[in-house]
Amino acid sequence: MKVVSTISELRDELDVCRALGKSIGFVPTMGALHRGHVSLVERSVAENDITVVSIFVNPTQFNDKNDLKNYPRTLEADCALLEGVGATYAFAPEVSEMYPEPDTRVFSFSPLDTVMEGACRPGHFNGVAQIVSKLFYAVEPHKAYFGEKDFQQLAIIRKMVRQLNLNLEIVGCPIVREDDGLAMSSRNMLLTAEERVRAVNISRILKESLEYAKEHTLQETKKFVEEQIAAIDGFVPEYFQIVDGNTLQQIESWEDSDYRVGCIALFCGKIRLIDNITYVASL
Ligand code: PAJ
Repeated sequence: MKVVSTISELRDELDVCRALGKSIGFVPTMGALHRGHVSLVERSVAENDITVVSIFVNPTQFNDKNDLKNYPRTLEADCALLEGVGATYAFAPEVSEMYPEPDTRVFSFSPLDTVMEGACRPGHFNGVAQIVSKLFYAVEPHKAYFGEKDFQQLAIIRKMVRQLNLNLEIVGCPIVREDDGLAMSSRNMLLTAEERVRAVNISRILKESLEYAKEHTLQETKKFVEEQIAAIDGFVPEYFQIVDGNTLQQIESWEDSDYRVGCIALFCGKIRLIDNITYVASL
């Protein structure tokens, strides 16, 4: 695996690959890689001749300066991991490389970006769109891989690709969880031992709500999750919404959609965690 830090070097390398007719898969990340990221890389390696993984903690998507400062950075371990799973290139640029001048572009993905994470983290998705579009222009992949863990981000990236007429396929990949059910996240390593134990309640409650939903209305199920989350000491909930998986707008009853996703965000101590679950069609 080759580690590249400039766009021009990356383009030179990939131009050669393209001239040889090779297909290019791309996995954008912010590093501190875990098995969730690895699942995306493995999928790309299986489906493409070349896999590029970017590792870049993108400042423009952090609405909280402390979150940016504390975000884990583990480049050496990340590269060793990527080497082991067959990535071809790791692209790890400096901030000055990706933002030679401030990016003043303003995106709108209404109504996808005004709800949930968009409402709680002003500017977040604009920053995501800025960096992901820049990365797409630099890599020009055939396919790019995103996790359903960031369910709203995936929907917004799909919309951005359509808005910009980009010629690539977005592949959504399922959430990878720890053995106890906690959705894998780079932020999990920032949890104290006590918070880590507490955090498992998120996936437990979501999973229980799947059973509960079979016998209860959507509103009852929503209340069930909200009350259980509120009962956990040390959780500060931000939202739990059951939305249509395509429009991301809240639905009032199970009959309103056949793609129903419960999305949750909360603070576990100082660390903000998100997760989601799909309420299957057989409700
Ligand atoms: P990051 O949080 O590093 O995540 C990179 C990719 O890994 C995203 O597509 C995310 O959804 C996926 N991912 C993270 N945890 C996962 C899990 N437990 N299971 C499956 N997939 C998982 O998302 C970002 O970075 C950034 O916003 C980025 C798109 C790189 C733009 O800066």
